[in-house]
Amino acid sequence: MKRESLNPTGSFKARGMAVAVSRAVELGSKHLVAPSAGNAGGALAAYAAAAGVRATVIMPSDSPAANQVEVLVTGADLLLLDGLISDCGKLARLIAEETGAFDLSTLKEPYRVEGKKTMGLEIAEQLDWRLPDAIVYPTGGGTGVVGMWKAFAELESMGLVGTDRPRMFCVQAEGCAPIVRAFEEGSRFATSWENASTAASGLRVPSAVGDFLILDAVRQSGGAAVAVPEAAMFEMQRRMGSLGLGFVSLETAAAAAGLDAFVKSGLVGRRDTVLLFDTGAGFKSEPPPLNAPRPIPNDEAFWRERVLPGFRA
Ligand SMILES: Cc1ncc(COP(=O)(O)O)c(C=O)c1O
Repeated sequence: MKRESLNPTGSFKARGMAVAVSRAVELGSKHLVAPSAGNAGGALAAYAAAAGVRATVIMPSDSPAANQVEVLVTGADLLLLDGLISDCGKLARLIAEETGAFDLSTLKEPYRVEGKKTMGLEIAEQLDWRLPDAIVYPTGGGTGVVGMWKAFAELESMGLVGTDRPRMFCVQAEGCAPIVRAFEEGSRFATSWENASTAASGLRVPSAVGDFLILDAVRQSGGAAVAVPEAAMFEMQRRMGSLGLGFVSLETAAAAAGLDAFVKSGLVGRRDTVLLFDTGAGFKSEPPPLNAPRPIPNDEAFWRERVLPGFRA
């Protein structure tokens, strides 16, 4: 598992924003704007604050509370929109056009992908310049996949890796799976997903600007794409916790549930070296449905009478 949740803002989005904000500021931008499912906005706000420039983040109003807070604490502007991330993108474009702010939307500028490339470079370096057989990635806008794919090509041109590529596997949610649908239909482009709905906010992306780039990488690598049901994500989130992997995000849990499906269908073999992406920390997502225990009284007699017998049973 590659633990992107350990990045400075708790998700892989820090990589793209670190580079994109640095470059935009270097080129003179004073105000940066971006739509976000949550984690990208948190990363933009943090790096804009570090660079001393203004940031405006536009999120769907049902984005996780932790993501909203992490934007607000930096002093960035947060707009919550009753719509999907694609609608937030339209407002970001309007703000950029009308005010001169710089639009850092996914794939509207080149440097977020350059930042995501570092995932591919690190994989090669950390595996001693041998790439894994398969990479499994929870896919929304897909820049992680696009960035890694670019990194592998560049590593090859520098002679650091050979021509072999990992098979790239995308996982989406059943309630929003435009890339999976296009993959299954054999289309090069994905049509927008109607009424996108999933608790995994990072996967609630009805149309990806780089759809063809993601699909090309999946197909050229001999990979595949699968959609997982909501229940499978929540179940996997608990299973991973019980295996000692910590509180992973729903997106990470979706990827793991997808891997399960790829193994069952024989697309991933038990002898394959598989890299599963933990794209973000669980504590940043909406909390899962919880069967919290009822509080007990602060009373030793009660503990002896009612709590201890349960342990002895
Ligand atoms: C934790 C997490 N995982 C995966 C994704 C999907 O990333 P991408 O849109 O680059 O495919 C996101 C996007 O917000 C995310 O926050």
